Amino acid sequence: MLDKSIPFFPVLMVKRDTKNYPRFELPVGYAITGYREGFENRWADIIYSVEHTDTWQQARDIFEKEFMSVPELLPGQCLFVLDGKGEAVATASLWHGDHFGETHQRIHWVATRPEHQGRGLVKALMTRLLDLHNELGYKDFIYLTTQTWSYKAINIYSQFGFVPYIGEKPVNWKDENFDKNNRLAWKLIDEKISEYRQKKQETKRLQNG
Ligand SMILES: CC(C)(COP(=O)(O)OP(=O)(O)OC[C@H]1O[C@@H](n2cnc3c(N)ncnc32)[C@H](O)[C@@H]1OP(=O)(O)O)[C@@H](O)C(=O)NCCC(=O)NCCS
Repeated sequence: MLDKSIPFFPVLMVKRDTKNYPRFELPVGYAITGYREGFENRWADIIYSVEHTDTWQQARDIFEKEFMSVPELLPGQCLFVLDGKGEAVATASLWHGDHFGETHQRIHWVATRPEHQGRGLVKALMTRLLDLHNELGYKDFIYLTTQTWSYKAINIYSQFGFVPYIGEKPVNWKDENFDKNNRLAWKLIDEKISEYRQKKQETKRLQNG
């Protein structure tokens, strides 16, 4: 789920050392596959299940607008994780974007169905997408857009070497108060991630006696 209990601000993250990232494998019983005909509905199921959209139809419309414009890229770059029953339970894509005024690759629309979260599915997808980025010969820059509500995902992106974009307002970014809002956003995100890391450390400490 997105954590809508904190203020919403959109943010960007960038990564320049695109060949340097951790390797995560899927847990047993799961498999990564590319988009196939019909998966647009499965994509909408996943996105709606994490409350990225208010309705299933909104998610379906986003797929149409974002991905159907270049359908030939879908099988290779719009990825899904299937569970043991063949159900699509997570998704993430390598897609193009132009927020910085020129076309770059980005990590796009990442989500795992709530009942499958915390099993390492998105970490494995991230390893696969960065492999793909390199296999396709893209240059040393990749980025993503996300939001304060997705600090859990941001924690994962950080582990893959994505860093907060702090700088001038990107050319294609709608926020007249970018500088101020961006700093506020990263303060909120850092607080949430620190809280999580502290709790994890405390649990570990208690487990080790
Ligand atoms: C964020 C999300 C994609 C993660 O998917 P997942 O398959 O459960 O992720 P994984 O199991 O591979 O990774 C778990 C990691 O999430 C991060 N995480 C989980 N809960 C967290 C929390 N409360 N605070 C901070 N980080 C958290 C941690 O980095 C954790 O790994 P770690 O404990 O080793 O550090 C999933 O929770 C989701 O779909 N969220 C809603 C949609 C969303 O925000 N998408 C991103 C849009 S850009």
